[in-house]
Amino acid sequence: MPARKIIIVALPGDGIGPEVTRQAVRALETIAEHGECRLEIHEHPAGGCAVDEFGTPLPRATLDACLGANAVLLGAVGGPKWDDRPRSQRPETGLLQLRSALGGFANLRPATFLPALSDCSPLRPEVAGQADIVVVRELLGGLYFGEPRGYDREAGEAHNTMRYGAEEVGRIARVAFDLARGRRRKVTSVDKANVLEVSQLWRQTVQQVAHAYPDVALDHMYVDACAMHLVTNPARFDVILTENLFGDVLSDEAAALTGSLGMLPSATIGGPVNLYEPIHGSAPDIAGRDIANPLGAIASAAMLLRYSGALPQAASHIEAAITAVLKAGYRTADLARGRAGQVVGTTEMGSLVCGAIRDAYERQFAYHAV
Ligand code: IPM
Ligand code: MN
Repeated sequence: MPARKIIIVALPGDGIGPEVTRQAVRALETIAEHGECRLEIHEHPAGGCAVDEFGTPLPRATLDACLGANAVLLGAVGGPKWDDRPRSQRPETGLLQLRSALGGFANLRPATFLPALSDCSPLRPEVAGQADIVVVRELLGGLYFGEPRGYDREAGEAHNTMRYGAEEVGRIARVAFDLARGRRRKVTSVDKANVLEVSQLWRQTVQQVAHAYPDVALDHMYVDACAMHLVTNPARFDVILTENLFGDVLSDEAAALTGSLGMLPSATIGGPVNLYEPIHGSAPDIAGRDIANPLGAIASAAMLLRYSGALPQAASHIEAAITAVLKAGYRTADLARGRAGQVVGTTEMGSLVCGAIRDAYERQFAYHAV
């Protein structure tokens, strides 16, 4: 049977987006080389570069290509160049339009503390422990999309709306509980129910969903307490379930605790086409210098193989390759922090990971041969 074809739309975007996406694509090609899948990868403009070229951050042709793909792999969008544009011409607006059009409401952000990076974490090793967290961030509701919204410049007044319906909370809660079943069976639902009505609805709905998962432990935590527990005892968390903005903030915090924002991948699932993107931004200050960390993007490619390619073993090979390269002491600049280890650039880090993927396959074939 010929290997399955996966049609991927790559949206490299702005800043370091193109250079990290290139390395993620190389990792995918290395998997395809070993006969796991056939790849068809189409690149399209999105974000600030699309504003420059087409006057809109999400051109129709880009959106149509994404809707016709099996998966979308995004680098990063945004930069100071477009910060003063009206909202319809901001790169971030294009990303939100894309998320909404693809329909994925569950954004999974795994933050794993690798022993090889324990010296990069701002936490002492005994505090960081072997923390292994997934933030399940609701991605299509809350303040990001709530109406009404607006900025009345003359009046000096602006407003946004935090809104959720029970159905939207229920469906994201089920994703978190299902995920917990494959892990340590613990969900921490994060809200601000002592102040916000939206959070009261959130909490009640999550409690109702929990009845169907008696094998999963559930606790509730206010978002400020969660921010605190993340730095004092991250190992207490398994799955963190939370709304859009809280998830945005907490996932950056969790990422930095693992050593660098550049490490964290994400997968947005639940809609017709899943979207994969590292959680870091476009980092315009270091763009084009071949020093950005491509591992978050490469790990996003692994998630793509797992959730859109049904290739869990290939995904594990990529993840194991990342771990092996870090264990061997290779570091991008963000991870170096003046400590021992060999500092490599973006492209070389990509080459090292591809090499480690090939090693993993060789070991696998050698094993099957005996
Ligand atoms: C993220 C980013 C985006 C978000 C921005 C770029 C719109 O910060 O993916 O975390 O806020 O969701
Ligand atoms: Mn963010």
